[in-house]
Amino acid sequence: MEVKITEVGPRDGLQNEKTPVPTKDKFEYIQLLVKAGLKNIEATSFVKKESIPQLADATELSSLLDFKNGIQYSALTPNLKGYEAAKNAGYKEVAVFTAASESFTKKNINRTISESIEGFKEIFEQAKKDGIKVRGYVSTVIDCPYEGKVDPKKVLEVSKVLFELGAYEISLGETIGTGVPAEVERLLEILLKEIPANRLAGHFHDTYGMAIANVEKAFSMGIRSFDSSSGGLGGCPYAKGAAGNLATDDLVYFLEKSGVHTGIDPGLLWEASAFMEKAIARDLQSRTYLATKKKREV
Ligand code: HMG
Ligand code: MG
Repeated sequence: MEVKITEVGPRDGLQNEKTPVPTKDKFEYIQLLVKAGLKNIEATSFVKKESIPQLADATELSSLLDFKNGIQYSALTPNLKGYEAAKNAGYKEVAVFTAASESFTKKNINRTISESIEGFKEIFEQAKKDGIKVRGYVSTVIDCPYEGKVDPKKVLEVSKVLFELGAYEISLGETIGTGVPAEVERLLEILLKEIPANRLAGHFHDTYGMAIANVEKAFSMGIRSFDSSSGGLGGCPYAKGAAGNLATDDLVYFLEKSGVHTGIDPGLLWEASAFMEKAIARDLQSRTYLATKKKREV
């Protein structure tokens, strides 16, 4: 059974870390993720430096990546300027990002939802000419940190527009990690009436420890693509209180023990997480990571 795992540690994980991570450490971390078997890696974002200073080295970091080693590297691009930078750096996949709530979109990218989509049109047009794949993120699919509960119909509406523009997959951002399986079920029931399961990905954060339960629900409804960050790194600077992403370590443990082959070596993944734990000088929270750490200490 095939599952796609998109490792977002280097981007979603590091965008919210207080301790600056040197570019060479980010590169080493990505190398370790590759060694562990990750095939889809979101490496960075090409955004305004003042917005996300942690990823201001996007061009420098990307110049170190080997774009011919069979790994699908991707980068977040909010506008044509970011897209051109990503293309020149060598990316064959980029991701545009908007949300299902206006307040979050405004805080995150200083646009209304429709302005953001209007701005993406030129990215999609150019990407088609360049043969670059575009993924779409829709954030706040269950709750918004500013507006509360989000209507699944709004998620459907925004997702459909992104598909019409040419997105190959929509990643459903459960941005603040407050959602529970019953809410994931309600959301997917509505989305799956109009969108095939193989065009959707789950992007869960683990603030309330619900991420794996949400994966299980989404998986049971046919979703086979999930975003996660090694060790559970992450958060979002425009979503106060959002904890790390679903940990890749937890996801791999869950899938493998459930009989789903991931192609990822848990020991080598642990090494990647441990390397980043040292670099950010704070303890990682993934339960699987911690359990392995304890075992290794014995
Ligand atoms: P703005 O200030 O409205 O942009 O920001 P602007 O077009 O008015 O330009 C202002 C300045 O920014 C100009 O510089 C531009 O050149 C520069 P100046 O001329 O004044 O020197 N600029 C750029 N520089 C580098 N790269 C660019 C770029 N664009 C403009 N691409 C903008 C609008 C969207 C650019 C800004 O708000 C921004 O960069 N936001 C990024 C926010 C972000 O990265 N958030 C985190 C990622 S989203 C997330 O984490 C959620 C997700 O994980 C899913 C989930 O969990 O839900 C994906
Ligand atoms: Mg996120």
